Amino acid sequence: MINIVLFGPPGSGKGTQAQHLIEKFNLKQISTGDLFRYNMKNNTELGKLAKSYIDKGELVPDKVTIDMLIDELRKPTETNGFIFDGFPRTANQTEALETIVKDELGAEISICLSLVVEDEVLVQRLLKRGETSGRTDDSNEDIIRNRIKEYYTKTAEVAELYKKQGKYVEVNGIGEISEISEKLFAEVEKIK
Ligand code: C5P
Ligand code: MG
Repeated sequence: MINIVLFGPPGSGKGTQAQHLIEKFNLKQISTGDLFRYNMKNNTELGKLAKSYIDKGELVPDKVTIDMLIDELRKPTETNGFIFDGFPRTANQTEALETIVKDELGAEISICLSLVVEDEVLVQRLLKRGETSGRTDDSNEDIIRNRIKEYYTKTAEVAELYKKQGKYVEVNGIGEISEISEKLFAEVEKIK
């Protein structure tokens, strides 16, 4: 299996690049953000709980997110592997993912691909996306800045954990979408 953690701050292009990677390598994307939004749209208990954090640009508590991910991974699917988009977002989630992938799939995380984009570009991209995404957390600059703050205080350390395992690779996330995809493809080819 190829199991990819697609990493980077909000607005770095994880969702966009996940689409290209799943097509190229026949993988399945698991986006915890998308799962939360699906639950919010359907007004489930999980959705209501998640909304109270997401609307402020805060992270949902680890246990909630981890349980949701386990449920998703237990759904039967035929795939060459998974792309984890927007997960893990804390050190705790990183450790949990290692155990989950081992227990549920008998596999490992192959690589952490990190999209690097500077903060002001992120803010501009997310404000722009907010014009059409309908996402409450894209619509307001204060919320966007809080998401970036959460990234630095809680998520950035995830990179250190993958660095220690020799699985961390940075790719410049600014440029043509297709050029960035090619760089990501090349990194995956190296470990196939
Ligand atoms: O990944 P995405 O940017 O779509 O996530 C949107 C929001 O969902 C985050 O800002 C956060 O509030 C919540 N989230 C979370 N924990 C995750 C993924 C998403 O709290 N692992
Ligand atoms: Mg996304």
